[in-house]
Amino acid sequence: MQIIYQKPTLFKKSVHNIWTDPYIQQQILKKHLDLLSDEASRQQESILKIVNFILQHSTPKSRLLDLGCGPGLYTSLLADEKYTVTGIDFNKASIVYAIKERKDIKYILGDYIRNFPEGKYDTVTMIYCDMGTHPDCDRDQLLANIYHSLTDNGIFIFDVFSKEIIHDKREGKSWEYAPAGGLWHESEYLLLSQTFHYPENNVFAYQHNLILGKTIKQFIIWERYYSEEEITNILKKTGFRKIAIYKNLLGKNTFTSSHEMFIVAEK
Ligand SMILES: C[S@@+](CC[C@H](N)C(=O)[O-])C[C@H]1O[C@@H](n2cnc3c(N)ncnc32)[C@H](O)[C@@H]1O
Repeated sequence: MQIIYQKPTLFKKSVHNIWTDPYIQQQILKKHLDLLSDEASRQQESILKIVNFILQHSTPKSRLLDLGCGPGLYTSLLADEKYTVTGIDFNKASIVYAIKERKDIKYILGDYIRNFPEGKYDTVTMIYCDMGTHPDCDRDQLLANIYHSLTDNGIFIFDVFSKEIIHDKREGKSWEYAPAGGLWHESEYLLLSQTFHYPENNVFAYQHNLILGKTIKQFIIWERYYSEEEITNILKKTGFRKIAIYKNLLGKNTFTSSHEMFIVAEK
């Protein structure tokens, strides 16, 4: 048994992943479905604002792909607006829930980095700053796949943490003892957590040691933030012609404070 406490190399992949761990994904599903919480998905009030934003910037009733769709909180609202919707996620609990809820939406249980969905879309969405969880090389491959999957003048809408997020986050250590289980495991656990900052790369890492008796499971969650200039240049390099950035779409919230940017990139 070994506790990892050193600063991980940038974008090191942990063996375990909160989205695909069979127990944790069930707990995350509960958080997604809590309409008042900003954890896992934003609270309902924000979701409605974001859906309106997507409606304003996309062609009505067109083909839309939602990357990391979770349990379908956005896809179902967009299908209600007569969009032809596909959602992909590798969290089985979320996709099983989403399929049960709606038969008129195509859901794919899969990894959009390794197996990008086939087909052409007028709009691609990716919401809750998920772009920032991927290493730069995966991000660039993903952006190229998104670009190629879009029809001419197609739109990619997503959000990222802005640089101001550094005012809210600090390097540090914390621990949680759950004698009767909790978010991370169904029975007793100790969780040792560290936050690391990589200011030269605009990245935070959240490293967790989940201690279960004699077993330790490690999780690392990565969070990349951007300046307006940097994300614009990355999108231009991919080929996107027009890029518009919207700040303060949501106002104060517990997920990003108010430090997120919504980006509309046109092919
Ligand atoms: C924070 S949740 C947001 C879900 C949804 N976009 C929302 O805002 O309600 C991120 C989602 O992305 C999914 N995800 C992360 N990486 C993924 C990948 N490589 N392939 C498929 N899904 C992924 C996770 O399983 C999770 O459901």
